Amino acid sequence: MKVLVVGNGGREHAIIQSLKKSKKITQLFAIAGNGGISADAITVDMNVKDVDKIADWAVENKIDFAVVAPDDPLVLGAVNVLNDKGIPCFGPTKQAAIIEGSKIFSKNLMKKYGIPTAKYETFSDMEKALSYLDTCDMPIVIKADGLALGKGVIIAENLDDAKKAVKGMMEDKMFGQSGSNIVIEEFLTGPEVSVLSFTDGKTLVPMVSSMDHKRALDDDKGLNTGGMGTVAPNPYYTEDIAKECMEKIFIPTMNAMNSENRTFKGCLYFGLMLTPKGPKVIEYNCRFGDPETQVVLPLLKTDLFEIMQAVAEERLSEIKVEFKKKSACCVIMASKGYPEKYEKGYEITFNTSRKNVFVAGAKLDGDKLLTNGGRVLGVTAVAFTLKGAIKKAYKKVSKIHFANAFYRSDIGKRALKAYGEKR
Ligand code: AMP
Ligand code: GLY
Repeated sequence: MKVLVVGNGGREHAIIQSLKKSKKITQLFAIAGNGGISADAITVDMNVKDVDKIADWAVENKIDFAVVAPDDPLVLGAVNVLNDKGIPCFGPTKQAAIIEGSKIFSKNLMKKYGIPTAKYETFSDMEKALSYLDTCDMPIVIKADGLALGKGVIIAENLDDAKKAVKGMMEDKMFGQSGSNIVIEEFLTGPEVSVLSFTDGKTLVPMVSSMDHKRALDDDKGLNTGGMGTVAPNPYYTEDIAKECMEKIFIPTMNAMNSENRTFKGCLYFGLMLTPKGPKVIEYNCRFGDPETQVVLPLLKTDLFEIMQAVAEERLSEIKVEFKKKSACCVIMASKGYPEKYEKGYEITFNTSRKNVFVAGAKLDGDKLLTNGGRVLGVTAVAFTLKGAIKKAYKKVSKIHFANAFYRSDIGKRALKAYGEKR
């Protein structure tokens, strides 16, 4: 079968390396892919947001199945357009992708169906938002309603900063139209856990849990980024907590989307916080997380394509989804300066196998691979213990070189501590 993956980052590279193991797939394509992905798939240069063009290309090239990975094309309705043209897809329709596309939608959904989340109010009027802030305890969390490249969340420590954030979003449009409407919500505390799940709207199968490291610098200092590394499983996510999340959050969310006539099919991502009052939803994503996918998929034992087809055909209950009883660690190698200003165009050299080295931002120049983004590589290793996975990942990192490379040296440290250094 000819399979197309839409997307161009490390997540898509991990999906492609995983799909490549399926015997059913004869040809793999990526729109747009990148210089690293082209080692594993045929890349086609096109904007991932150009959903009509992508669908036309897929029809012309007789694509049998498409995987739409990033939030933008999903929210824009790429799956609707592809389905209309007769191409089965893994990924939610536009109607279901709103669970990530609008924070106001997702907060109201949780309130309506009793799914645990932070207390909140929504605003479309700045003056009302500002006077509401006078009644709030600090810190407080301010979120732009729409997609904002993962940057639309501001945690304000005091009233002054909170007011600045509201004005920045609603008046100065720091996140464009995404900030015309906002959510102001209670600040929660506790360890964070990412749980990706497969769902066809009838069955929901959680994948192995993971832990992101969002801050740019060691010890969770520095600016928020798209993610500087991940480990899986997440030690805080015990069997009891998993059971509670399944009963109180995952299944109720799947059912709520069905009740709203927005059946969700694809990968539903739960960003959770394990608060003293129990697990609560921080955010939903309508897609695989990045860089969570780079640790979750290398642990998947079952054929990913079989699962994706079963999801599209609403027969996920027939598939036994299994994960290796191992640990994985992914260290992001970024360009110095990320997430702000950084330089590009430096040659990347590998003194190690490229298996499980996922390319996020690089382009080919002849046969040279050059850095071409903030996050450049996701270097993943799998081992029987978390300690082993961390050691192996950093050993691999030490064998990969490019000018101005920058990475955190403590990925997995907190997780290891939570295990009592035992694993
Ligand atoms: P996001 O950019 O949506 O991935 O979220 C950024 C981060 O903001 C999350 O990973 C949390 O660490 C933090 N965050 C979001 N909402 C809350 C909240 N209600 N309380 C505390 N931290 C939050
Ligand atoms: N790593 C968080 C996300 O993909 O949004």
